[in-house]
Amino acid sequence: MSKIEQEIAKRRTFAIISHPDAGKTTLTEKLLLFGGAIQTAGAVKSNKIKKTATSDFMEIEKQRGISVATSVMTFEYNDLLINILDTPGHKDFAEDTYRTLTAVDSVILVIDCVKGVEEQTERLMEVCRMRDTPVIIFINKMDREGQNPFDLLDELEQKLNLKVRPLTWPVNGGATFKGVYHLLEKQMYFFKVNKTKVEDDVALLELDSSELDQKVGERDANQLREDVELIEGVYDTFNRDTYLSGKVAPVFFGSAVNNFGVRELLEAFCQISPLPAARPTNVRSVDPLEKKFTGFVFKIHANIDPRHRDRIAFLRVCSGIFERGKFYHHTRLDKSVRFSNPYSFMASAKEVVDEGFPGDVIGLYDTGTFKIGDTLTEGEDLQYAGIPSFSPEIFKELINLDPMKSKQLEKGIQQLTDEGVAQLFTVQPGNRKVVGTVGELQFEVIQYRLEHEYGAKCRWIPMNTSRACWITSEDPKKIQEYIRLKGTQIGYDKDDNPVFLADSEWMVRMNRDNNPDIQFHTTSEFK
Ligand code: G4P
Repeated sequence: MSKIEQEIAKRRTFAIISHPDAGKTTLTEKLLLFGGAIQTAGAVKSNKIKKTATSDFMEIEKQRGISVATSVMTFEYNDLLINILDTPGHKDFAEDTYRTLTAVDSVILVIDCVKGVEEQTERLMEVCRMRDTPVIIFINKMDREGQNPFDLLDELEQKLNLKVRPLTWPVNGGATFKGVYHLLEKQMYFFKVNKTKVEDDVALLELDSSELDQKVGERDANQLREDVELIEGVYDTFNRDTYLSGKVAPVFFGSAVNNFGVRELLEAFCQISPLPAARPTNVRSVDPLEKKFTGFVFKIHANIDPRHRDRIAFLRVCSGIFERGKFYHHTRLDKSVRFSNPYSFMASAKEVVDEGFPGDVIGLYDTGTFKIGDTLTEGEDLQYAGIPSFSPEIFKELINLDPMKSKQLEKGIQQLTDEGVAQLFTVQPGNRKVVGTVGELQFEVIQYRLEHEYGAKCRWIPMNTSRACWITSEDPKKIQEYIRLKGTQIGYDKDDNPVFLADSEWMVRMNRDNNPDIQFHTTSEFK
């Protein structure tokens, strides 16, 4: 095996997603504990709090008690190098999460066994399905009185439009939770309230053995036998290929806070999850084994120190080897760029790296060169595909409160929208700036950051708009005519594409019906 083949075989890059409060942070932390990347429970959360204390922007996060930032955590386990791309759970930052999902090879979805499938879970899974991302499901909080596990599986299949296949099965739940039976290993993992230790209490127990009756009690043993018979009857045998194609999600049960079921999840993840694979671009599919480096930026983060306006661009390496100090081709700007201090996120400390392999995420200091979706290559003109921009849900017009600071405001809103904090649409006449987001919170974030980082004060005028549709037509005259007709209902996105700003879904439908020569798109691809 060549060096690059070996390095690719070692890498697993994934995200943990969940509705807020299902246990994503707790699970992340437990996985890092197994990997030895952190020593004590609570480190991930306390790390978040430390960060908030050092930045004004993060102050908002602290006040609201939510996670704004998407970061990367790397650890080693069983000779694998595992990259977890953290995603903000808060709904208002969903776009951030969607974009992070374009940079991973698989996801672990955490479900609260009491609450089942929640709103945010459905939306996140829609994005995963768009890309056929392989999913492993972890049903958490089994120490709580939850729903019947069969009902939960049915709900998952129906609401997430996905087939599931349990690989472990719980014996009871809540106060009488005894543990899980591993259907492939044929082992019983006994539950103990255990917040820090990482060992499991395991026994190899065949289902038909009398030992099972002794260890879990006759009644529960019989129930387990019945359940397993039903599972084997209803669900197809687990097949890794159907998981890899994103069609079937294996399911594990556990309790993250008690470190229970986490090791089995991690072991299975190491065995079945995909390594970095070929990725589509606007020209061709790029194989990670290709000699020449390619990669794309999926996230841009404001500097933690607001006095310095440089930012951190998160680059996912897709093929070849990224090398420090080497010149690369920025395909959108058609320009050479080089990075003397790229860094990795190993063991939560930032370290300068000399090389990066497919699957790795590298932090690049950026002074405004990058937009989300930008591609770097060794010269080839290609652009990684599939970072769509979704229609925002809330739109407000940005009003400058200080005419002396209009340059700062202009620059600030441009940079903030490059980071993907919100989408900016320019409406004529008068270059009016309409900002679209998926949540109210971003407006506060933008207002706060414009003032503190760019010294520009603004206010917002709410608008009736609730949908943005990118419009195209095969006939350039028809689109010009439509744009002229719609006047101020047309905005231009940051790539100057025309967008119809509609008040309602009904209005979009009516316009679609009345204008058969115009195509209305609900998402755009960043070009
Ligand atoms: P999130 O990142 O998905 O938002 O969830 P997070 O891990 O922060 O967990 C949300 C709450 O659920 C936390 O409680 C956490 O301790 C609890 N939790 C996580 N896993 C389990 C589990 O297996 N069983 C039970 N019963 N609870 C669990 P909190 O009170 O909000 O915070 P904390 O003070 O406990 O940290």
